[in-house]
Amino acid sequence: MYALIPAAGSGSRLGAGVPKQYLPVAGEPMLAHPLRALLGCEDLRRIVVVTQAGDESAREVLGSEARAVLAPCGGPSRAASVRAGLGWLLEHGASPGDWVLVHDAARCCITTQAVRRLIDACVHDEVGGLLALPLADTLKRQREGTGPARVQATVPRSGLWQAQTPQMFRIGMLAAALDASADREITDEASAIEGQGLRPLLVPGEASNFKVTLTGDLELADAVLRARRAACGGD
Ligand code: C5P
Repeated sequence: MYALIPAAGSGSRLGAGVPKQYLPVAGEPMLAHPLRALLGCEDLRRIVVVTQAGDESAREVLGSEARAVLAPCGGPSRAASVRAGLGWLLEHGASPGDWVLVHDAARCCITTQAVRRLIDACVHDEVGGLLALPLADTLKRQREGTGPARVQATVPRSGLWQAQTPQMFRIGMLAAALDASADREITDEASAIEGQGLRPLLVPGEASNFKVTLTGDLELADAVLRARRAACGGD
């Protein structure tokens, strides 16, 4: 079983001039936190971090940890980076039938416990699955047109979940699904799998496993990780 962290994005929405995955969070580059959570899971033989070619920053984060390796084969989109990472795994000893857990570097508050929960739920399943959370908020659809945003309609939230990562699928099945959806915009692995007519498992995730996208998210992630460390007697 393997993990793959696509970390080849520019993080342009945060506007920091540094790729998001290297911004400091709780005193360390963001990438260090999900890497540690995944390393805590002994089932994972290797954690492959996909970066852009020539990006040396990840090497420092990985340090001398033998199970964490760099694959400098990132592509122009997240899906392209994931697909290239799967190819890299297959060229470096993995089999198409092996499981891979794909996790965004930007979900830096993931816990080892949640990763184990996903594995336990999916390991005997034919398809695989993802961490996700049932939607708690009331949903509004925005009216089209110019001027201030106004409500067009309230969207029923029953049965709706927010997708998180990790997402766990077999390497060969996921590679084929991504190849088949190359002409669509794919923002997570599960949607490519769904495109094959398959039904991934929804495994309850955690609210703290949010994706850092805007500056406020960075502050929140910092607070979550520092509080956790303090609770473990680390601060
Ligand atoms: O930009 P966004 O937050 O959607 O990125 C999600 C994850 O995908 C991040 O960990 C980012 O580094 C990664 N990514 C990538 N290759 C790209 C774009 C994003 O690996 N070309």
